[in-house]
Amino acid sequence: MPIIAPSILAANFGNLNAEIEMVNHSEADWLHVDVMDGVFVPNISFGQSIVKKMASLSTKIVDVHLMIVDPDRYIKEFSDAGAHNISVHYEACNHLHRTLQVIKECGAKAGVAINPHTNVELLSDVLEDIDLVILMSVNPGFGGQKFINHTLVKIQRLKQMIVERNLQTLIEIDGGVGLQNAEIILRAGADVLVAGSSVFHSDNPIETVRKFKALSSKPSFQA
Ligand code: DX5
Ligand code: ZN
Repeated sequence: MPIIAPSILAANFGNLNAEIEMVNHSEADWLHVDVMDGVFVPNISFGQSIVKKMASLSTKIVDVHLMIVDPDRYIKEFSDAGAHNISVHYEACNHLHRTLQVIKECGAKAGVAINPHTNVELLSDVLEDIDLVILMSVNPGFGGQKFINHTLVKIQRLKQMIVERNLQTLIEIDGGVGLQNAEIILRAGADVLVAGSSVFHSDNPIETVRKFKALSSKPSFQA
C-alpha cells in the first residue's frame, strides 16, 4: 500500500481544526506540512508556532517539508514543534551531510527534497544517510500545479540506486499528484504520495484518500 500524505497547504486555513480532524479520520498515513520562507521559494506559508499547533492536533506522522534557506537554524525548533520527518532542500544546504546528522540527533527522520532541475545522482554520496527523498514534481512554492512528467524517469533512476544498495530509503513525490496519475507514479517506484489539491479540493476528501490507498504500490520494474 502506498503511503499517503495530504498536504495541509491546500486546506481551508480558516478551519484548520476540522481539516486536520478530517485527515485524522481518513486512511492517510502522514500529514505533509509545507514551510516556505519567501526567499528559497516565492511564497510564505507558516512557521514553527502554527506547525506546533497542527502537530498537536494531528494523530498522523507529521512530515515537515522545509522550503527555506539555511534550514539548520530551525531544525531543532521544528523537531520540538512535533515534526516526525524533517526534509531540507538539497539546493539550500552547503553541508548536507552534517544537516542530516543534526536532524537525526533530534530524533526525526531525515529527508532531502530536490527541485525538478536537480539530478538524483547528486544524492549518491549521501544516500545511505537519507531516510526519505522528496522528488519535487512541480517547482516548489505553490499548490495546484501541473505534474512534471520527467519526474517519472527520476523516480526510476533513484529507485534503482536504492535497490542496488539494498537501502530502505523512501521516495516521496510532491506536486501535481492526483488519482489520474498516481498509479503510473507508483509503478515507477514511488513509496509516498503527497496530495494537496487532489484531496482537500475534492468533494469527498476521505473517500479520495481511500482511493489513493487502494492503489497498488508495486513498482513495475526491479533493478
Ligand atoms: C509545493 C509543495 C507541495 C504542495 C502540493 O511547493 O511542496 O507539497 O502542497 O500541492 P498539490 O498536491 O496541490 O500539487
Ligand atoms: Zn511539500
